[in-house]
Amino acid sequence: MYAQLVETGSTRLRKLDELSGDERRFQERIDAGIKIEPKDWMPEGYRKTLIRQISQHAHSEIVGQLPEGNWITRAPTLKRKAILLAKVQDEAGHGLYLYSAAETLGVSRDQMIDDLHSGKAKYSSIFNYPTLSWADIGAIGWLVDGSAIVNQIPLCRCSYGPYARAMVRVCKEESFHQRQGFDIMMALCRGTPEQKAMAQDALNRWWWPCLMMFGPSDAESVNSAQSAQWGIKLFSNDELRQKMVDQTVPQAEYLGLTIPDPDLKWNEEKGHYDYGAIEWAEFYNVVKGNGPCNRDRLKARVDAHENGAWFRDALLAYADKQAQRSTAAAA
Ligand code: 3HC
Repeated sequence: MYAQLVETGSTRLRKLDELSGDERRFQERIDAGIKIEPKDWMPEGYRKTLIRQISQHAHSEIVGQLPEGNWITRAPTLKRKAILLAKVQDEAGHGLYLYSAAETLGVSRDQMIDDLHSGKAKYSSIFNYPTLSWADIGAIGWLVDGSAIVNQIPLCRCSYGPYARAMVRVCKEESFHQRQGFDIMMALCRGTPEQKAMAQDALNRWWWPCLMMFGPSDAESVNSAQSAQWGIKLFSNDELRQKMVDQTVPQAEYLGLTIPDPDLKWNEEKGHYDYGAIEWAEFYNVVKGNGPCNRDRLKARVDAHENGAWFRDALLAYADKQAQRSTAAAA
């Protein structure tokens, strides 16, 4: 199975009149658009669902530094290097806000990190693909951060206050990331034929994995219905995927690049682009840990954690010393 199937307390969506008093009041608050705050009563399934999603989101931001971090030393100019460094640092910051938001639900940072390192908690499938050329850095900013924005703007209005507020700043920074990626693609597309070919190759490799980022199709998405009822998800996986396709096709045309999908076609009646079939077998394979870089990514995170043990020990020793000093001073 590709999903953890977090216990949400019910096997089907229940109507208002089937809920207990607390549950009904909770659902009515959500339906009225009132944010849920950490000390408010909440169903256990809501708390677990948020811990699952927010911690996985945090892990994605942290693991997401690896494919781009790989290019910091090889960025073509000093300016590009400074921009990329800032972007990768932003991703670290996003991870930290999100871990903090998850902690308000009663889970510890250590637990979340253990769940990532043991393979129990997921991170986004997209970060299990390699960055083979500088154009990949452009494609990631343009397409991966572009997709992240489409998915995350609605999260600024989700029902859980700390998550919604964290997402406001995250989204502002993601917009800068998307623009810097598009700017790299523009420079390559206006460059030599070899540079343009490099941009096209990056688009060819990143397009389909980006569509997969939005998660399984609505018919296969096990968590969507409950998350929608709880105001965590405001749009379905397929709705957001369609939005990404619709906004990206004109951008690719502007760049003079071809989206690698022979079935991509404007559908006048629907007012949307139709697109070809997604290789779901590839998605599930990556989610289960068998993508091109899954093992390397997890190993890099576990190694970083282990190599940083001395620093965490030093912080604790310092905090103990400070506490002893203040106790001695108060005596
Ligand atoms: N990669 C890995 N796992 C995925 C996935 C993906 N792209 N899409 C779905 N899954 C997993 C889910 O986590 C779930 O498994 P779980 O039960 O073990 O957690 C399972 O597949 C079933 O999918 P559902 O559609 O039922 O799951 P959700 O309702 O949670 O929807 C989601 C998935 C749309 C990704 C949702 O969790 C979400 O919106 N998350 C917040 C945003 C996020 O985490 N984005 C990750 C990218 S962050 C990023 O890109 C960083 C930026 O800097 C570029």
